[in-house]
Amino acid sequence: MAIAIAASVAGGPEVLHQIDLPTPSPKTGEVLVQHTAIGVNFIDTYFRSGLYPWPVESDLVLGSEAAGVVVALGDGVSNYAIGDRVAYTIPNGAYVSERVVDAKHLVKLPDGVSDDVAAASMLKGLTAHYLLHRSYPVQKGQTVLFHAAAGGVGLIAGQWLAAKGVTVIGTAGGPEKCALAAKHGYAQMIDYKSEDFVTRVAEITNGAGVDAVYDSIGKDTIAGSLNCLKTFGTLVNFGQSSGPALDFKLSDLAAGSFTVTRPVLFHFTADRSYLESASASLFEMIQNGTLKINVNQRYDLTNAADAHRALEARQTTGSTVLIP
Ligand SMILES: NC(=O)c1ccc[n+]([C@@H]2O[C@H](COP(=O)([O-])OP(=O)(O)OC[C@H]3O[C@@H](n4cnc5c(N)ncnc54)[C@H](OP(=O)(O)O)[C@@H]3O)[C@@H](O)[C@H]2O)c1
Repeated sequence: MAIAIAASVAGGPEVLHQIDLPTPSPKTGEVLVQHTAIGVNFIDTYFRSGLYPWPVESDLVLGSEAAGVVVALGDGVSNYAIGDRVAYTIPNGAYVSERVVDAKHLVKLPDGVSDDVAAASMLKGLTAHYLLHRSYPVQKGQTVLFHAAAGGVGLIAGQWLAAKGVTVIGTAGGPEKCALAAKHGYAQMIDYKSEDFVTRVAEITNGAGVDAVYDSIGKDTIAGSLNCLKTFGTLVNFGQSSGPALDFKLSDLAAGSFTVTRPVLFHFTADRSYLESASASLFEMIQNGTLKINVNQRYDLTNAADAHRALEARQTTGSTVLIP
């Protein structure tokens, strides 16, 4: 029997409840994975709250990244063996003690990348990878602004940008978060709860502005983010932690002939060769110490609602994992 955390209706964290599911059998091409650690991500709250369309007819098991051990193989699976340590990131279904996953979504975990770290970094680390290499392929010597710098994606992205020789300015809510981000690659931090980030970016860049803004806050920041860009700069909007930016208009880009993109990780990872190369690169950076993955909150799987409350209340830093 598998234990899962699901929502029957859209709503607040209180809609999350435990259900028992029969242990599934892997079909052709599938692998049964016993989870050891499950990542919590802001996208989980979007599905739970109903911001994103409900993707199933039945109870929705949330969760989009996890690590675990292979315990059974379906027909035709030759590249995994029972006992292999694996991880994956696919939309929903991960808040469960064991599940079947199509083998095409799995990657093997190398020594030196623990299950906790993998569950804390598959979705967030691959997001940092595509943001920096595909959405806006940032170059050494450039200056960028990254919002929510002390968050799960933010702490990974700051370290990765600094390793590339990029000057990265971060924003975060409060002095403690700013101090944490400053230890993870951010050259300058702005406390956007007490400072106007547009004014501060202008001061820091001597009026030049930044080459790109990576904005996952949405409603509260998009207009300001555009005001921080150089002419021909790029806005990468990859989330909406404060809500969707409904006032945004294409004509807003005319202020500086700006480029805007609104990417989604799963479109990148659908390409198996990208999944393999990006996760190899992520794991190498973790193993050689360039990227430190901060698992700063741990909860029992059955307490997933508390993890959601903390994330939405802006009380977390770095990554959060659930232990089944
Ligand atoms: N498009 C994609 O492919 C993709 C993939 C992964 C993640 N994302 C997005 O990236 C963002 C970061 O994800 P994450 O899981 O690492 O979360 P996170 O950054 O750890 O948490 C979200 C942070 O957003 C900030 N925030 C600002 N306004 C907020 C508000 N009104 N309510 C709640 N938080 C607010 C808070 O940091 P401060 O207190 O410092 O402001 C909070 O800690 C999310 O928006 C997520 O949806 C997108």
